[in-house]
Amino acid sequence: MTTARSLTAEPAVTQSLSVPQFSVISGAQVQQALQGRETQVMELVEATYRLHGDGDSVNPPSYFLRFPDRPSSRIIALPASIGGQLRVDGLKWISSFPGNVAAGVPRASAVLILNDHDTGYPFACLESSIVSATRTAASAALAADRLGRGRPRPRRVGFLGVGLIARYIHTFLNGTGWSFDEIGVHDLSADSAAGFRGYLEQSGGGGDITVYDTAEELIRSSDLVVLATVAAQPHVTDPTWFDHHPVVLHVSLRDLAPEILLTATNIVDDIEHCQKADTSTHLAEQITGSRDFLDGTLNDVIAGRVTVPADRTVVFSPFGLGVLDLAVGKFVYDEIVCSGELMVIDDFFHERHRYGPGASSNAGAQPGQPRQR
Ligand SMILES: NC(=O)c1ccc[n+]([C@@H]2O[C@H](COP(=O)([O-])OP(=O)(O)OC[C@H]3O[C@@H](n4cnc5c(N)ncnc54)[C@H](O)[C@@H]3O)[C@@H](O)[C@H]2O)c1
Repeated sequence: MTTARSLTAEPAVTQSLSVPQFSVISGAQVQQALQGRETQVMELVEATYRLHGDGDSVNPPSYFLRFPDRPSSRIIALPASIGGQLRVDGLKWISSFPGNVAAGVPRASAVLILNDHDTGYPFACLESSIVSATRTAASAALAADRLGRGRPRPRRVGFLGVGLIARYIHTFLNGTGWSFDEIGVHDLSADSAAGFRGYLEQSGGGGDITVYDTAEELIRSSDLVVLATVAAQPHVTDPTWFDHHPVVLHVSLRDLAPEILLTATNIVDDIEHCQKADTSTHLAEQITGSRDFLDGTLNDVIAGRVTVPADRTVVFSPFGLGVLDLAVGKFVYDEIVCSGELMVIDDFFHERHRYGPGASSNAGAQPGQPRQR
C-alpha cells in the first residue's frame, strides 16, 4: 500500500487535500460487483438522469476519433462530471471496431477513468465495456418501463441486432421483473442469431423463441422492439411496419428512417447530444429543419412533464451519457473498496514533491474517505 505523507505547498488549501491511491479494476471484478444488481443499477441510472436533468452535471459532447484508413471504426471519448452524493469526474474511452467480431473478438473495448472531485487526480481505471453495456441496458429497461406505462405490458419482445448489448438488455429486462410469452430475434448474421438464441435458452427467462428472416416480420410481431445493430444508416424505412404502435428502444440510434420517427412520439436522453453524428433523430432534424418532432427526455417523462400516448409508436433514442458511466463506475469502485479487494498500484503518482524528494508529501487516501496524515 502507498505510504501517506503530508503535502507542503499552499498550506491553507493543501492541509485538507491529499493524493489519492490509484487502483485498477478488472473486468472480472466489475462483473462480480454488478451481477444480480439489475434493479439497484436501474435506480442508480434513474437518479443520475434526474441529477443531469436538474443541471447537477457537466456532460460535454462526446468526441469521435475516426480513421480515414478504417472508416467503420472509431474511438469515442465521453468526459463528464456528476454532482449529488456521487461527486466524481471522469472519462470513458471506448473503441468500436466492428471488424473484430468476425475474428471472434468483441466489437467494443473500453476503460473508464474516475477522477477525484477535490484534487482532480485520477484514482481508478476500470475495464469499462461491462460498465458501458450495463448502463446502456439499465437505461433501456428503465425506458421500457416508463414509456410503456398506460398501455398493456408487452408480452412480445423483438431483438433486432443481437450482440452483447442485446444480451445485456435482455438480462436487465429479466432482472427487473419482465417476462415475455414470445421473444423474436433477427440479425443479418445467422451465427449471431444462433448464439443469441442459445443464450436465451440458457437464461431461464422463458418465452417461445422465433428467429425471423426479416426485420419486417420481427417488428410486426413485437410490442417491445429492441434495436441494437451496428448499422451506420437507416435500413428500416417503412412506417407501416409500426402500425401496431410498439415501444421501440432505438439503442443503436441509426436504424430508423426519419419518416418513421416523424410518425412516432420521440423521447431521448439528452436533446443536444442526440442531434449529432448522423443519428436518425439528427437526420430527421436535417430533413424537417426543426426539433419539433422531439417530445422530450426520459427524465421529462419520469418527472411527469411529458406524457406518452398509448396509441402511438414511442421511440427511445438514447445517445448514451458519460454521467451514466461515471455513476455505474463509482458504484463498482465503492463495492470493491467495501469488499477489501481494491488493487492499488503503489507509487503510481511518483513525482509528488514540488521541489524534489527532500520535501514531504501527502498521499495514499481513497477518494471520499478520511485521508491519512
Ligand atoms: N446508445 C447507447 O448508449 C449505446 C451504448 C452502447 C452501445 N450502443 C450501440 O449498440 C449497438 C450494438 O452494440 P453491440 O456491442 O451489441 O454490437 P455487436 O457488434 O456485438 O452486435 C451487433 C449485431 O448487429 C448485427 N447487425 C448489424 N447490422 C444489422 C442489420 N442491418 N440488421 C440486423 N442486424 C444487424 C450484427 O450482425 C451483430 O450481430 C452498437 O451500434 C452500439 O454503438 C449504444
